[in-house]
Amino acid sequence: MHLKPPAVTGWERETPIPDGALNHYLSVRGGRLFLEDLDLTRLVLGSDLPEGLSGPLGSPLEIVYLPLIPKKIAALQTVFADAIAETGYGGRFLYAYPSKANAAEEVVRAALQTGAHFEISTYPDVDLIRIMIARGYVTSRQMILCNGFKPSGSPYAERILALQKAHGNVIPVIDSLAELPFLEYSGQAFEVGLRQKSYGRHDDMAEMNEVNSQFGMQLTDVARAAARIEEAPNLTLRIYHAMVGGQIEQEADFVERLSSPMEIFAKLRQRHPDLTIFNFGGGVPSAMALGFRFDYPAFARLLLTAIQKNCRRFRVPEPDVMGEVGRYTVTEHGAQIFKVGLVKENKSKYPWYILNGSIMTSFPDAWALKEHFTVLPVTNLDRPFRRVQLAGLSCDSDDVYPPKGSASPLFLPVDAENLYVGFFGIGAYQEMLGGMGGVKHCMIPEADELIIEHGADGTFHYRLNRGQNSWEIARTLGYQRDV
Ligand SMILES: Cc1ncc(COP(=O)(O)O)c(C=O)c1O
Repeated sequence: MHLKPPAVTGWERETPIPDGALNHYLSVRGGRLFLEDLDLTRLVLGSDLPEGLSGPLGSPLEIVYLPLIPKKIAALQTVFADAIAETGYGGRFLYAYPSKANAAEEVVRAALQTGAHFEISTYPDVDLIRIMIARGYVTSRQMILCNGFKPSGSPYAERILALQKAHGNVIPVIDSLAELPFLEYSGQAFEVGLRQKSYGRHDDMAEMNEVNSQFGMQLTDVARAAARIEEAPNLTLRIYHAMVGGQIEQEADFVERLSSPMEIFAKLRQRHPDLTIFNFGGGVPSAMALGFRFDYPAFARLLLTAIQKNCRRFRVPEPDVMGEVGRYTVTEHGAQIFKVGLVKENKSKYPWYILNGSIMTSFPDAWALKEHFTVLPVTNLDRPFRRVQLAGLSCDSDDVYPPKGSASPLFLPVDAENLYVGFFGIGAYQEMLGGMGGVKHCMIPEADELIIEHGADGTFHYRLNRGQNSWEIARTLGYQRDV
């Protein structure tokens, strides 16, 4: 079996971090840490704050660096445009952003303004996208793909019908035969998708049909649903959807997992000529840890040539290829900076650096899935380093980093005076899973949030949202402030 080397979570030596690039968006310049051209060291030290920002900035501080989002979308679109040209592929690449990866208004706005299509999965999602439509951020050219469970009569099904009346270009993706009646009897015209049960790794169609997944339909139901859609005068079968995993880090493995779905797509296409979109869902990986490598151009070429080959075999035209690209789009724009409040040398293997916030509630995947994120000092980069462990402020023994059982070392400056530490690559899913606002484990307040956008003039624009104070938490828990 191929064993993955331990993830590189940060600096792994006792010497200071020299100037230079750490990956494609993090670098050290003059002993300071930069996220693209944003000087994080200067930001947290607050001594020389950029124009438009008045201090002091709080800590912990969440960084929302929006310019990376359109940049990443454009980069993947270019990768596919090049692969289409190189392979002579007969279809287009359609980029959709799924709200579940990060549904914050500024993030969704940044994605929608690139013209990306949009994928949603619950009824509140419909209300959010209606706000964005009303504000003019969505054109009728942008598809709204409705995944998620939506049995007839559910609030989600009702809202989908209303959204289609108001906007058009709403494409429900059928996840179960029970989701068809509300569309069949709606009297409204819809293009629809079908979701195949396909999650995970499988070698052939029979194996795929046996996967233990709550998402999508087994083979016989896919065929039944397609036939019913064909019979319904108001419905057109447009999309075949088969998602095969998340953060799939090997290019060939990703494409191999899609080979049975490709075959089913082609067989359906022979009978249903309106079926023009092959949607592979999510799975496009992104840099959470530093050692991450993925050859996006190789992946795009492999995928398109595999679809081409399959289409030739079944004598059907090459479809448009759609990705619902969540993690890739928003992982890197998000960071969170903590201050080291205390160092404990209590005869543990490595000293504990105690942060002034919670790791497990801020990045739940570090605890629940043992996920590795990038951790770097934002100050004291030019001092000697030592191997340490991080702990959050909660009373939970799981509030630690690196994750329990991890073989990845973490080195931080020995000098913990005024030491700030950043977690990077946390922009996808972490805040959605940990929740925004409300009350979290051990009542640790929400961090301040600094939103950074590029203005039309090319300069940075800053917006600071203050986090919670303890009285807001008390009120949420039902306490009255009468003492
Ligand atoms: C239907 C669907 N599409 C897209 C995504 C986004 O996946 P990723 O973040 O891997 O791009 C998900 C994630 O769970 C999903 O369930």
